Amino acid sequence: MAGVPMDQREGWIWFDGELKPWKDAKIHVLTHGLHYASCVFEGQRAYGGEVFKLREHTERLIASGKTLDFTIPYSADEIDAACREVLAKNNLVDAYMRPVAWRGSEELSVPARNNTVHLAIAAWVWPSYFSTEEKLKGIRLEWSKWRRPAPDTIPCKAKAAGLYMICTLSKDAAMANGYADALMLDYRGYVAEATGANVFFIKGKDIVTPTPDCFLDGITRRTLIALAKANGFTVTERHMKPEELGDFDECFLTGTAAEVTPVSQIGEFSFTPAEGCRTLIDAYSAEVQPKQVAAE
Ligand SMILES: Cc1ncc(COP(=O)(O)O)c(C=O)c1O
Repeated sequence: MAGVPMDQREGWIWFDGELKPWKDAKIHVLTHGLHYASCVFEGQRAYGGEVFKLREHTERLIASGKTLDFTIPYSADEIDAACREVLAKNNLVDAYMRPVAWRGSEELSVPARNNTVHLAIAAWVWPSYFSTEEKLKGIRLEWSKWRRPAPDTIPCKAKAAGLYMICTLSKDAAMANGYADALMLDYRGYVAEATGANVFFIKGKDIVTPTPDCFLDGITRRTLIALAKANGFTVTERHMKPEELGDFDECFLTGTAAEVTPVSQIGEFSFTPAEGCRTLIDAYSAEVQPKQVAAE
């Protein structure tokens, strides 16, 4: 259904406890979440019929709501069950899935404590379009002019809609200039992350990735750190200055949507995706497949 507008697709969306036909999953224009970004969401993928790290995504969703001072009115068990129901109802096996929670439309001004909290869950096919060989060509990134703000200026650990304002600005500017994505520095000038993914750098068997102290510590990021260690790499999390990027041979992004995406260029720096990226792409592809329960 590529190219079909998101509000015009066929299927079922879980909306406040019931499955609604896709086109009927609507909210009012005077919704608090729309005007004041009182909205949190998840991006998760199902592989072979199972959502990878579903409980971690659900817990992050609930925690993101708490960070924005609201309680999603469903338990983690209920949200997990709803995600599975959405997959089944839409006959999806490999899919991208978007749970989203927001404050409703009872009142429309900055304070929000009297507004109800809503939850919807949608899923659709969003395959990894590229073979490993294609991926290994790498994508080109532009430096963003926007910086990840200090942790005492935004709730940076939440996956909250408001934090994506500068991501959209950065990615649109990069794409207009012929790049695939943008890489953001943080408020101190350290390397931070791409607009929807974390970043890693490889030199030989050593991997370095920025410390996630003002941006999302991605679930894929943590998975990759474990897989890299299991595959004989050392992994160091530390602050990285942009001028040291020339010391590295390979670079890749990680994220639920991006999975493991090699990078060939960041601004003035070039990288050659090779064995390191290949090993980690393969390790991640194997990791996300549902684990067979050993026969009794
Ligand atoms: C800004 C940002 N950083 C990092 C990530 C990677 O997070 P995860 O691996 O949990 O998908 C994402 C994707 O959710 C993101 O939007």
